[in-house]
Amino acid sequence: MPQLLHIDSSADLHASTSRELTALFAQTWSEISDDHTTVRLDLHRDPLPHLPDAALHYAPRLRVPGELPDADAQAVQARVLEQLDAADVVVIGAPMYNWSIPSTLKAWIDHVHVLGTTVPFDTVDLPVVGKPVVIVSSRGNTYQPGSGNEGDDHTVPPLVQVLGVSMGMDVSVVTVELTLADRLPPMAPLAAQGRASLAAARASVVELARKVGRQENP
Ligand SMILES: Cc1cc2nc3c(=O)[nH]c(=O)nc-3n(C[C@H](O)[C@H](O)[C@H](O)COP(=O)(O)O)c2cc1C
Repeated sequence: MPQLLHIDSSADLHASTSRELTALFAQTWSEISDDHTTVRLDLHRDPLPHLPDAALHYAPRLRVPGELPDADAQAVQARVLEQLDAADVVVIGAPMYNWSIPSTLKAWIDHVHVLGTTVPFDTVDLPVVGKPVVIVSSRGNTYQPGSGNEGDDHTVPPLVQVLGVSMGMDVSVVTVELTLADRLPPMAPLAAQGRASLAAARASVVELARKVGRQENP
């Protein structure tokens, strides 16, 4: 039974663009077949703690004497690692908050990016290598080349670094921009560009969900 791990981190429970797009991904995924199941992780409604102990960054065999993380903290980390391990595909809603990702999503990253466990390090185990992950990045402004803001996106590059480069996941990115054009009057001239970005993102999300969904059920 192919399983999707559907993660959201937007603090907007009413009109979030990333939530709309991850939900569209999950809906498209579930329509592929009755076998396609989804596990939901809403990091805003049900946040993880900040990583409570640096020792949790390392697999137990890589910890040095005296590093004894709290048992409850280890259990929390084990739960999120099991969720990731069990997933065939992951979709992550990642809004831009102050040029970065929400702290709730960063807390999840800090729990799952573990040297010697999910990061190939000193063994041949490659637990998440090749696992498809789709990042849905929503942002109020534009960071396209020529916008004057290129280089200020500190959301997608670190997620690609952690999930793709370090953990070896198969990363796809869907970006939707100018979501603030309908809210902030000075951005009103960019509203049509924002709507076009959303339409393109919806199409990309559906295409990606079908593509990775069928790979899981050829
Ligand atoms: C706390 C906060 C910080 C934000 N910081 C930025 C920012 O640095 N750059 C930007 O382009 N938009 C910023 N925005 C706008 C959001 O990126 C935009 O509203 C986006 O659509 C949020 O994703 P969501 O619609 O899924 O909630 C911020 C919004 C909030 C609530």
